[in-house]
Amino acid sequence: MRHEPVYVTEAERLEQESAIQKILELPQRPKSFHIVTYGCQMNAHDSEKLAGILTQMGMTEASDRRDADFVLFNTCCVRDNAERRALGNVTWLKELKKDKPELLIGVCGCMVQQPQMAERILKQYRFIDLAFGTHNLHCLPSLLYNLLTQKNRVVSVTDQETLIAEGLPVKRLNPYQAYITIMYGCDNFCSYCIVPYVRGRERSRKMADILTEAEGLLKSGVKEIMLLGQNVNSYGNGTGETFPKLLRELDAMGVPRLRFMTSHPKDLSDELIEAMADCRHICNHLHLPVQSGNDEILRLMNRRYTREDYMRKVEKLRAAVPEIGLTTDLIVSFPGETESQFEDTCSLVREVGYDAAFTFIYSPREGTQAARMEGRIPEAESTRRIEKLIREVEASTARVHQSMIGSKEQVLIEGPSKRDPNQISGKGTRNITITLDGTAGDTGKIIPVTITSAAVNTLRGERTER
Ligand code: SAH
Ligand code: SF4
Ligand code: F3S
Repeated sequence: MRHEPVYVTEAERLEQESAIQKILELPQRPKSFHIVTYGCQMNAHDSEKLAGILTQMGMTEASDRRDADFVLFNTCCVRDNAERRALGNVTWLKELKKDKPELLIGVCGCMVQQPQMAERILKQYRFIDLAFGTHNLHCLPSLLYNLLTQKNRVVSVTDQETLIAEGLPVKRLNPYQAYITIMYGCDNFCSYCIVPYVRGRERSRKMADILTEAEGLLKSGVKEIMLLGQNVNSYGNGTGETFPKLLRELDAMGVPRLRFMTSHPKDLSDELIEAMADCRHICNHLHLPVQSGNDEILRLMNRRYTREDYMRKVEKLRAAVPEIGLTTDLIVSFPGETESQFEDTCSLVREVGYDAAFTFIYSPREGTQAARMEGRIPEAESTRRIEKLIREVEASTARVHQSMIGSKEQVLIEGPSKRDPNQISGKGTRNITITLDGTAGDTGKIIPVTITSAAVNTLRGERTER
């Protein structure tokens, strides 16, 4: 069943605008903010929107949380350690508040959206002043106004999970690279994953709204746009548009570099592969999470593809876009995973030859199907498996890097290299960091290079003709 998206109404938007005006008139309003972000790019981009809204309220961004009047934690709950880290840091601020009682502490994002979390925050974390979930981020002005005028804590989590808020201000972290969220939520319900519960049902923005946003970014000098969605390649469901069509439109607009994530293998269609082959602005990189190399585990994960389906798509993609680099996400120790099932994941890494991979130990999430499955793998065994898998991934990365020596890449310069300030670095279209000679003045330029040598995580290149 499809869920119609609901747009934030003009009346609601005006209400938020008026809250901003009222805050600006308060004599005792917070003057500075600091946002701590956990989790995925989606959250990183939400933080850019939150920063945009707070800037409209006359606040400036403090680079250190100790200097801020308002500290906001934008949280993640995809794995237990992500959640623990966020809560650990919030608790640390409790101490700071003892010396600085006027400090305001807020939490938002996926962790807060979990069932019963609002009640827990009210009871267990009494020093948290403001909490809101993923569906009412655009209400920050009125929530903050209530907090400042009523002197009561404000906790607001809604279940309005089909909402889309257009036109929010964005304070971008990077002048050359920008995110555009094109779809929200996820309907896949992979059995281990909490995201569908905290981000709501899939809903796609209108193509016209996305294109207008992209035009604005292009005019402001952005060189690279990353399209975001939990399941980005299922974009369009219900709008009559499709993801390949959106890519072709953006490519024709002349966005210098286009990236997108995260793509679900089941939605990697022939049309998408064709669009990737045809559009010259789409980067030579695809993040295609496979999670496991074993069919039975994939079935229990509810991923809806087999190892063979996945391999066939990879082959098709490579036939159409020979230079493409693939990265992935892998989970070890899913409930009941046997040694030989784990080995299937290792062999898949060798077979595909990934540029890189994120590796995770399965973490049970309350409310998900897998959390009720039997066969938990002991911690020591999980550690052994993930260490072995990381070695497989590192070997794969090393092979890819070696094979790239002598090839050409276009590097979008991010600035002086972190390791050697006399060098500059940036990402090639395959999303691998490349260092070369240059100065800070090259930042934001796209420079053609020939790869000359390979190190563990980076490549070295020399400027070359196009
Ligand atoms: N929508 C994206 C990303 C979701 S979260 C996708 O489908 O790929 C990012 C990654 O976290 C997932 O790809 C998965 O590898 C990992 N992950 C999600 N839930 C997890 C869990 N409960 N335990 C361990 N890893 C998990
Ligand atoms: Fe989670 Fe699966 Fe949706 Fe990705 S596709 S967000 S792993 S449920
Ligand atoms: Fe985490 Fe939410 Fe992203 S749970 S991975 S921040 S969608």
